[in-house]
Amino acid sequence: MSDKTRVIIVDDIPETREHLAKLLSFESDIEVVGSAASGAEALVMTAELLPDVVLLDINMPGMDGIVTAERLSAEVPSAAIVMMSVQGEVDYLRRSMLAGAREFLVKPFSSDELSGSIRQVHSREREKMGRAVAPPRASTNGKVAPNVEHEPGHVITLFSPKGGVGRTTLAVNLAVAAADLGKTVALVDASFQFGDVGVLLNLNPKNPSIGDVLSDVANGDLEAVDSALIVHSTGVKVLLAPPTPEVSELITPDHIRKIIGRLRDKHDVVIVDSWPLFQDATLALLDMSDLILALLTLEITNIKNMRLFLEVVGQLGYPESKVRLVLNRADSAYGIRVADVENSIGRKIDHTVVSDGRTVVYALNRGVPFVVSNRQAQVSQDILALARAVIGDAVVAPVPDASTAQRRSLFARR
Ligand SMILES: Nc1ncnc2c1ncn2[C@@H]1O[C@H](COP(=O)(O)OP(=O)(O)O)[C@@H](O)[C@H]1O
Ligand SMILES: [Mg+2]
Repeated sequence: MSDKTRVIIVDDIPETREHLAKLLSFESDIEVVGSAASGAEALVMTAELLPDVVLLDINMPGMDGIVTAERLSAEVPSAAIVMMSVQGEVDYLRRSMLAGAREFLVKPFSSDELSGSIRQVHSREREKMGRAVAPPRASTNGKVAPNVEHEPGHVITLFSPKGGVGRTTLAVNLAVAAADLGKTVALVDASFQFGDVGVLLNLNPKNPSIGDVLSDVANGDLEAVDSALIVHSTGVKVLLAPPTPEVSELITPDHIRKIIGRLRDKHDVVIVDSWPLFQDATLALLDMSDLILALLTLEITNIKNMRLFLEVVGQLGYPESKVRLVLNRADSAYGIRVADVENSIGRKIDHTVVSDGRTVVYALNRGVPFVVSNRQAQVSQDILALARAVIGDAVVAPVPDASTAQRRSLFARR
């Protein structure tokens, strides 16, 4: 069998099929083995040719892309699906992911984005297969580790499918707590549109931000990332969100991979405050995270969204241990108990943080993290305990396993 990535193109418009095939013909590591004009044809062809990747149009007459994806992932699970759409709507993306798609391309896309997505899903799929067959390897195989000056740090992302649950509050205080444990820490404000990290740390908004390094990073100048970091008095190094929301639209998955990769190479821990949308940049971030702290509060909409998020996590092939559930304001029960939440989402809550509006808001208004200014408060103690639990893990498991190495080589190539 050739070691090229074998691709089937599915689109009802013949010109689009030809165009995509032509674009891919320039990629020496990708081979188009077939093209289909409908979902039904795609099912037959995929079962017969067993491609690595199926490029699937979402809007087709008859069986649409979502239904086709559902059937494909049930019938030929080895074929990874890349969904193509003219709309980049969150709901579309989420439904595609739930149907089993692994990547999402919004038309029009460049040939780099196309080939990049194909390589990405294929490598992720191989990684997943590898994990299913063999458990993570012991350190004797660590020789595959890339030649970097620093063991790769651990990337911890604070995520929630819904806003206003405390991601920024926890990210900032967790970063400070990690520095307190003696780690070198980078804190990334990846809530690009409405970043608040700078406010919580009382940093001058005129400071450099991620927006200033995008073109350098795209051109491979990763040192630009180092020079955009602002050193806070706690020692935490901060990469701010852009000062204006428009800039966030320029941030691509490739930027995310390069920036997070660079920070990981230079720090023990990288804490990322994220944003609640499912966009391809979000997926790139979640992919790169060693640990996702999925945050929720005791509200019914929160719980529903978290259940959907955990389904997506399953579809993405992440191991269950990659996600930990953190219940913020855990003692503010307005008619919902922790046990109800656990029953509803089918998982135990891993960590809790109490509600303490006085401490939290006072710290916010002063721009001094409460873990520093009010260490004795229960809310600080809860975050310090969370830091010890998740960063403690980072300390005992520093050896990159095969999947990390593979991800890194992917990163290096792009
Ligand atoms: N444990 C807590 N106790 C009291 N208030 C909190 C707590 N965590 C967050 N908050 C408050 O909730 C609001 C939303 O928090 P924030 O961190 O900005 O959420 P997100 O980043 O998820 O949108 C803020 O006003 C914050 O001060
Ligand atoms: Mg926030």
